[in-house]
Amino acid sequence: MPVPDRAGSPGSLDGPLHDATTARLGLRAPVAEDAGVLHERVMTDPRTWELDAALRPGAAVEVAEQLRTQVERWRRHGLGSWVVRELAGPGAGAPVGIGGCSLPTDRAWNLAFRLRPAVWGRGYGVELAVAALTAAHRVRPDLPVTAVAVEANAPSRRVLERSGLVEVARAPDPRGLSPSPVCLHADRPLPQELVQALLAWRPRRPPVVPDGAAPGAG
Ligand SMILES: CC(C)(COP(=O)(O)OP(=O)(O)OC[C@H]1O[C@@H](n2cnc3c(N)ncnc32)[C@H](O)[C@@H]1OP(=O)(O)O)[C@@H](O)C(=O)NCCC(=O)NCCS
Repeated sequence: MPVPDRAGSPGSLDGPLHDATTARLGLRAPVAEDAGVLHERVMTDPRTWELDAALRPGAAVEVAEQLRTQVERWRRHGLGSWVVRELAGPGAGAPVGIGGCSLPTDRAWNLAFRLRPAVWGRGYGVELAVAALTAAHRVRPDLPVTAVAVEANAPSRRVLERSGLVEVARAPDPRGLSPSPVCLHADRPLPQELVQALLAWRPRRPPVVPDGAAPGAG
């Protein structure tokens, strides 16, 4: 489903999936060496988890582990989360986020994204999500694209909505990390047992407080 971005052009995805571009973003498969820069430039900013405590990152070593998981998903499925860069402007080339569709199980794509706050509000979230949906539909169109976001995470829910996903179910946060219900979004109707399985699953372990971060934030 083409969604116009802020620049007025429809969502696009060009080049090979492991090194693709959209109108304004470079999207490439991660390598282990990206962990340090992603941890520093994206993950440790408290604004990226203030709406959902479950998004709070662990120590750098945990981010490295999450990245290794993504590298493995790329190897096994030919798609996973991308490292996101701007193609133009003063920040061009440096990672500004991570996100995309990956397969944590063999039943459904999981769409997730996190961008550096300095680039929020430019439509990159929608541009990335539309590209991720396009890629997932290209690789395994038989699998639904799904995403979970807490109700309080309005920007994330808006990105999901604008990329064509709809809320299909909601439930209390299974980890008790957020007072806000967890909302499951999908690009098609889902069988009830898959709904229950996806709602019970939260992608991250209970977060470890990173060095210097105040406990209880988020
Ligand atoms: C979610 C996220 C990627 C969005 O990135 P972004 O580049 O700013 O998103 P976009 O500019 O494409 O658009 C976001 C939409 O949310 C809306 N939005 C932004 N802040 C909002 C808020 N506080 N309340 C309601 N809507 C909001 C924008 O207006 C826009 O909708 P519109 O196009 O209809 O105006 C970014 O906020 C982020 O990285 N958040 C932290 C990590 C996170 O929560 N990830 C999702 C995990 S499920």
